Amino acid sequence: MPVLIERYRRWLEIPSDVVPYSIGEGSTPLVHWQTWGQSRVWLKLEGTNPTGSFKDRGMTVAVSMARHQNAKAVICASTGNTAASAAAYAGRAGLPAFVVMPEGQVAPPKMVQAAAHGAQLIAVQGNFDHALTAVRQTAATESWIALVNSVNPWRIRGQETAAYEIVDELGGVPQLLALPVGNAGNISAYFQGFRRYTRQSPEFLGVQAQGADPLVQNRFMDEVATIASAIRIGHPASADTARIAVKESHGQFLSVDDTAILSAQRELARGGIFVEPASAAAYAGLLKRQNLSVLPAGDIVVVLTGAGLKDTDTPLRWASITATPSHASTLLTTITTMLDEALD
Ligand code: F0G
Repeated sequence: MPVLIERYRRWLEIPSDVVPYSIGEGSTPLVHWQTWGQSRVWLKLEGTNPTGSFKDRGMTVAVSMARHQNAKAVICASTGNTAASAAAYAGRAGLPAFVVMPEGQVAPPKMVQAAAHGAQLIAVQGNFDHALTAVRQTAATESWIALVNSVNPWRIRGQETAAYEIVDELGGVPQLLALPVGNAGNISAYFQGFRRYTRQSPEFLGVQAQGADPLVQNRFMDEVATIASAIRIGHPASADTARIAVKESHGQFLSVDDTAILSAQRELARGGIFVEPASAAAYAGLLKRQNLSVLPAGDIVVVLTGAGLKDTDTPLRWASITATPSHASTLLTTITTMLDEALD
């Protein structure tokens, strides 16, 4: 596959002399998961992007544009995935990256990624919303620093490409699209993407975590709490466009609690698809939607935004490890006993 920017250059409308900085993003699998009655459920595996989340689609465009516009550095606020992606693409483009994260609230593997790619890590007190306010103010006064959060329109343009891919693969727009909503950039990108590419859009199911669900409550929240740290956000920057996407597509926002998120994460993982809690929220939301009203016939896509290894705390608790001596005969006895128990 050509690099993402080349694959969809015409649709991205970036200047022809922009040099793409790529690490192999996009062209992610759309896996048929199950068929429920008249509905075919597909999973878009965005965790297979190079840094393990959908952020890479937007970041390749935002960082390439930053470089084109002679920025000297990039900066972002992040619950972790944007930080990892910004760090990787800045590294690729030879730019320093400053990643600002809410102290103690980011899953450690995401910090490992940002550090490995050479970013400067800055921890701020408060939550993501405080971090974003601080970096927006900094970038507004310092024109040499490019802000690469999803308030940067090039991030959104890049993320639109996921919608293009779905249309290319299914041969049209799905009936329903479920995705997790935090800062609300991604739902805005999908909406714009489907509209730009086809003039149509699926019904949007914007899923938030209970405890961090300002779009469901219809009020911004200063205190936020959920196990899904990636979407622990009370003041989504793109709230207005997200509301338009849901309204115009006759969709809805709904929230799912931590128990439902973890159960969805486990169900997907047992079926071979390991995603982080924020991504599992989208699937939990679809299950909830199914209980509320009949799902549309046709194609349903669940966007699984980030890989399971991004946040390993909870799955580690699922593990049970049996110790046994290494003789083949003892091992076989252990396996036979375990198999009997499993089949019981
Ligand atoms: N899923 C994952 C895995 C995320 O990391 C995020 C956002 C979302 C869903 C929600 O996307 O914000 O566009 O509505 N993560 C951001 C970050 C906030 O800093 O990595 P959104």
